[in-house]
Amino acid sequence: MKRVLFLALASLASLPGYPQSHPQSSPNNPDSVFLFSYATPKDNGHSGLHFAWSADKKTWTLVGNEYGYLKSDYGEWGSQKQINSPYLFQDHDGQWRCVWSLNTSTNQFATAASTNLTNWGRQSYPYLEQNQSFRQPVVHYDNTTKDYSIAFISGDQYLVTTTKDFKVFNPATPIPASQYTDDRVTATLPQAPGSLSSGPGTENIPTVAITGNLSKVPRQVIAKLNQFSQQVESKASQAREENPKNDSLRFAGIPSVAATITLQPEKRKPISDRLIGVFFEDINYAADGGLYAELLQNRDFEYTPHDRKYNDTAWNSKHSWTAKGLGFTIDSSAPLHPNNPHYAVLNAASSGGALINSGYDGIPLKKGGQYECSLFARSPDGKSKDMLIKLVAQDGSVLAQATLQTHAQQWQKYTVRLTARADAANARLELQMSTAGRLMLDMVSLFPKNTFKSRSNGMRADLAEAIAAIHPGFIRFPGGCVSHGDGLDNIYRWKNTVGPIETRKPQPNIWRYHQSVGLGFFEYFQYCEDIGAEPLPVIAAGVPCQNSSLTAKGGGQQGGIPISEMDQYVQDILDLVEWANGPATSKWGKVRAASGHPATFHLKYIGIGNEDLISDVFEERFTMIYKAVRQKYPDLTVIGTVGPFYMGTDYEQGWALASRLKVPIVDEHYYESPGWFIDNQGFYDQYDRTKPKVYLGEYASWGNTLFNALSEALYLTSLERNGDVVQMASYAPLLAREKHTQWNPDLIYFNNTEVRPTVNYEVQKLFGNNAGNEYLPSIVELSVAPTVQPSAPTGQATASSTPQDDLQALRKRVGVSVVRDTANGAVFIKVVNLLPLATTVKLDLGDLAKGRQAEKYVLHGLPNDKTAPLKVSAAVPASNILNETLPPYSLTVWRIIPSPH
Ligand code: AHR
Repeated sequence: MKRVLFLALASLASLPGYPQSHPQSSPNNPDSVFLFSYATPKDNGHSGLHFAWSADKKTWTLVGNEYGYLKSDYGEWGSQKQINSPYLFQDHDGQWRCVWSLNTSTNQFATAASTNLTNWGRQSYPYLEQNQSFRQPVVHYDNTTKDYSIAFISGDQYLVTTTKDFKVFNPATPIPASQYTDDRVTATLPQAPGSLSSGPGTENIPTVAITGNLSKVPRQVIAKLNQFSQQVESKASQAREENPKNDSLRFAGIPSVAATITLQPEKRKPISDRLIGVFFEDINYAADGGLYAELLQNRDFEYTPHDRKYNDTAWNSKHSWTAKGLGFTIDSSAPLHPNNPHYAVLNAASSGGALINSGYDGIPLKKGGQYECSLFARSPDGKSKDMLIKLVAQDGSVLAQATLQTHAQQWQKYTVRLTARADAANARLELQMSTAGRLMLDMVSLFPKNTFKSRSNGMRADLAEAIAAIHPGFIRFPGGCVSHGDGLDNIYRWKNTVGPIETRKPQPNIWRYHQSVGLGFFEYFQYCEDIGAEPLPVIAAGVPCQNSSLTAKGGGQQGGIPISEMDQYVQDILDLVEWANGPATSKWGKVRAASGHPATFHLKYIGIGNEDLISDVFEERFTMIYKAVRQKYPDLTVIGTVGPFYMGTDYEQGWALASRLKVPIVDEHYYESPGWFIDNQGFYDQYDRTKPKVYLGEYASWGNTLFNALSEALYLTSLERNGDVVQMASYAPLLAREKHTQWNPDLIYFNNTEVRPTVNYEVQKLFGNNAGNEYLPSIVELSVAPTVQPSAPTGQATASSTPQDDLQALRKRVGVSVVRDTANGAVFIKVVNLLPLATTVKLDLGDLAKGRQAEKYVLHGLPNDKTAPLKVSAAVPASNILNETLPPYSLTVWRIIPSPH
């Protein structure tokens, strides 16, 4: 609710206490220095809020080498996320606050607070009136009224808004120019090394003049700021060291390594039995043009330039279609279904003309393969019209053909079957008119008959099988960012994705293409059931993606679903649970049953939110949804969200909120370098076991080499060790169509005819297929020389007799995990050797090997290899002592499994 209260800046200026927000200079205090806060115009404020300090306001020193202590999270990556003209001040409670401009046009501004200038709280982006913009804010505090006023420039006007708490802001009102006083100063700063403006020709310019504002702070503030950025930089540089390029030098002179692993079965602990799962998102053409087996592109004529933010006019209803010898227009006056307004109108003056679809990079055909072509047609004159449906190779040869007769004046579905006479990588579908006249067409579809498990409207078999081969414990869908969408109107609404395909509502894909939603919630659930994975739908928390592009309604997440519409939104989520788990007689269970699945889907998990900006807007909506779901479905496990990084404001705020609400599991995301994964194997060791559990919903190490994959494997051994906290983990993204990627790396690449799993996929598969529900801790002792070393924390390696650096390095590069499946007593031992050295492993299995057989799987190669052969050794009777040498850069898995009877 907004209070209307106008306080003119002039009157504020005359009030006692004004301008309290300005740092009080204290020349007698030698321990105080001037803090200059600024953003650099050279990168439009993308690098955030910086500091410099000076004792005399003349000679300035950069703090943290121009480290960005606060970064804007407003709007899209690339063009947005700017801090412009920041105004930093200490409020009357001593808290630091920053107010900044987001860009030159948006009718929002930004504010955030911090107690120490390093850890910042939530950002919020209050709205101004339409058409008001926000530049050069200047903040003052009125000690009498306890109001803060923010004077700013909007176009050619000066305005002021007031607030008491930086949550509720009064409408901005104009002030005369004379009442706007900008007290920013210009400082001459040394240029930061590596600065964007220090390009060729500027080597001799050591300083740069920057405008910012001044505060006075104790010297120790500068020390703490420097310390903070140095810690960040030193961790980053340590992670950069973990690079195969350095390995031969770093490990030179070290003879081979020996690892003695001592199991501690008495310390066994239960761990999640669904740790390894998959993350599915329609990114990189993973759904349309990917897992969804539909072979035609733009079958519904619903492509629109809007899908591509109006940057591609060829991306329209006619995309992927061409006409030969007939008129082809698009109409929407009498659609097949309101959710699919556009359809094709064919005008054939004579027979022989055709409408042609080129599929996704062509249509792949298999000799002898059967294909079902279906379409909806309407003959406005009511006369029957014949068509020849043809599959045509690049050279013009017809590989399959069938006749279809349309007759109805109203929309009607027709289906023909085709059998391909030969293989083709790049065929096309031709709908050839054998009769002259007008015909309307929509939902023109071509499906292979051999979809995964022969499901109709099903999945591409080879891709579905490749995913199933991971043996995932769960599948998360429909994203990622696709779940919360590009702005409010693009939030993924599950109800639009079930039912007959012609009634589903397609929409732009946040990755700038088109979602037909042919692969919708029914198909996702069915697939999960088919492969024995738990379905994990992730639903937007009433806010769109924090990286949403700007719209008339503003950008970022400030634009949550209006509270007046939230009841209905919450109801939609409750309806999803009924749709999945309700009896076929219930309202939504009936809808599921009508799709051919009267039995329930046993939904156990639901994700609310995807790495959202944890703002007040988010909290309000998340809490509404969470409470409603918990109340109606107390047995359902709700998974909350804690931002896109392993640290920072959203992580801290997300964890605080989830802990407060007692959310059972939170979804963490991080994409980092291999070095980060190597250095952070202890990440979950110290997690508070009484707090929410973790779903590591998105992670990857920025690469598809064996080194990347093994760094992920190393980390996975630490996830198994912490499988009492980390309940689920999914590498992201999963699928990528070659030449159509918006994100790299991915787990499985594909084209029309081939599936190309990465070496990271092999790691996921080895962990997925060798999972247990019990963790057997072990002590790992490394030796590189005759000396034997002291013990290490369970599952982590120690070493001795080498220089200190090498000890550290060796410890980090060997990962061990032993898990057991209590159902059949199988034991799975995984050892990652990320050293460039052979490592001998000795492990006494004792009774665990009794009457068992052992299989061995070894993945290894050179660190930069993009593929690595998986060597599988035939099963042999398991010996109780494992004593083997592991090759450099390898993952070895032993399966100690019951012998066949
Ligand atoms: O996995 C790709 C994207 O990364 C996801 O859509 C999003 O959640 C994350 O930022």
